[in-house]
Formats: sequence, structure tokens, C-alpha cells
Amino acid sequence: MYGVTKVYPGDVVALDDVYLTVEKGDFVFIVGQSGAGKSTLLSLIYRGTVPTRGQVFVDGRNIVRLRRREVPLLRRKIGAIYQDFKLLPDRTVYDNVAFALEVIEAPPKDISRKVSQALEMVGLSGKATCLPDQLSGGEQQRVAIARAVVNDPLILVADEPTGNLDPETSNGIMALLSDVNCRGTTVIMATHNQAIVDRMRRRVVEIEAGRIVRDERQGTYCHEA
Ligand SMILES: Nc1ncnc2c1ncn2[C@@H]1O[C@H](COP(=O)(O)OP(=O)(O)OP(=O)(O)O)[C@@H](O)[C@H]1O
Ligand SMILES: [Mg+2]
Repeated sequence: MYGVTKVYPGDVVALDDVYLTVEKGDFVFIVGQSGAGKSTLLSLIYRGTVPTRGQVFVDGRNIVRLRRREVPLLRRKIGAIYQDFKLLPDRTVYDNVAFALEVIEAPPKDISRKVSQALEMVGLSGKATCLPDQLSGGEQQRVAIARAVVNDPLILVADEPTGNLDPETSNGIMALLSDVNCRGTTVIMATHNQAIVDRMRRRVVEIEAGRIVRDERQGTYCHEA
């Protein structure tokens, strides 16, 4: 993204002239205090919001001025995971994952195979017919990951995916995200989880009051003096 500024109604400057380039296949942590602008940055990538100024390129295309009918094409390239999972409560695990393929109009003949593969990857083949409220938090987050990666996205955007999970479950989620990254998906993850960032030693981009204040290869959660 180039020179991106996002001002919310009420003159709230969430991002202030941000330049950030992420290479294909990279794994990037976005860190910073609450309110720094992390979620805003992520949502610009999947066009959950549009910038007030500046340009956002995904796969070589400026997505700021996409036509409405072009948005589904963008979303096919991007999987998203949220802290609160955002599963559909009245649909089974299987249907939650299948839904991600239905909305992008994937060929029906591919759906069952892809959903089965994704559920197997996250270790939930045995829970396919459960409803989300019959699962633990960690299991629900694994369903959300299966849903986000079922279409083999170019980019996976994860907003505090371990936010409500115990350390061991969080480590399992991170192992899954690492696997996804190893298979070529770019992963961009906002987090407050210091232990995870320090252990993984990936690229760390720190935001403070809407500005990038640090960008380190193999970084840590806090700046090392
Ligand atoms: N829809 C909105 N309308 C108005 N202001 C908003 C909106 N969304 C976010 N903001 C403001 O923009 C700023 C950045 O918010 P953002 O959600 O990006 O922060 P964050 O870094 O993700 O914080 P957290 O760690 O708490 O999730 C904050 O001041 C927030 O209050
Ligand atoms: Mg946030």
C-alpha cells in the first residue's frame, strides 16, 4: 500500500500515510497498542474498508477503485480470520466451510472434496456435522481457518486469531498458519501475543497511532535495543 491514510467519521485518523509492501509468501506480524490501526490496515487488504487517501495493491491491482462486481474476484484471493471467529451459528461445521466456496461460486463438484480436505487439515473431520456452539473456542477457530484457506487463497489475513485461546491451543493455531504459509500463502496477522511473535521470529511491523514505526525481518514483539 502506498501513502494510505484512513480517516473515520469524527476525524479519527486510524492510518496516517502508510507505505507497506508484503512479498508473496511472506509471513508478517502487525503489532501495536490497541487503537493503533492494525484492524484497519488488515481490512483495507480485503476491502472491508477503503482508504481516504492512497492506493492499495493486491496481486498487482489497485483495489481502491474496484467495481462492485469485481469485489468477489478479489475475495477469492483472500482468506480472512477474525478474533471472534464469525461462524454462522445455524450451520454445521461442514456448511460453514462450504459456504466460503458457495459465495465465490466455486464449481459444486469441487466443494465436497475441498471442504473435506480443509477440515482434515485442521483436524476436525470428525466434527463436520456439529454446530459451532457444540465446539470449543479453539475448535471454532480451526473451523474459521479451514473456511479461510479452503479456496487456497493468495493471502491470508488474520486479526488476532489467538486472542481468546489458551497458550497451547494458540500454538496449534500458529502451527496451522505456518503450514498454510509453507504452501505458498502470504500470511498477514495482527496480534498482541508477545510469546508467539518472539518464538516465530518472522517479519514484524509495528504501528503506533496510525504510523509504521518499525519494520524488522525476524523481529520480536518489543523493539530490541
Ligand atoms: N468504524 C469505525 N468508525 C470510527 N472509528 C473507528 C472505526 N473503526 C476503528 N476506528 C478507530 O480507528 C482507530 C484504529 O482502530 P483499529 O481497530 O484499526 O485499531 P487496532 O490496532 O486494531 O486496535 P485493537 O488492538 O484494539 O484491535 C481507533 O482509534 C478506533 O477507535
Ligand atoms: Mg483490532
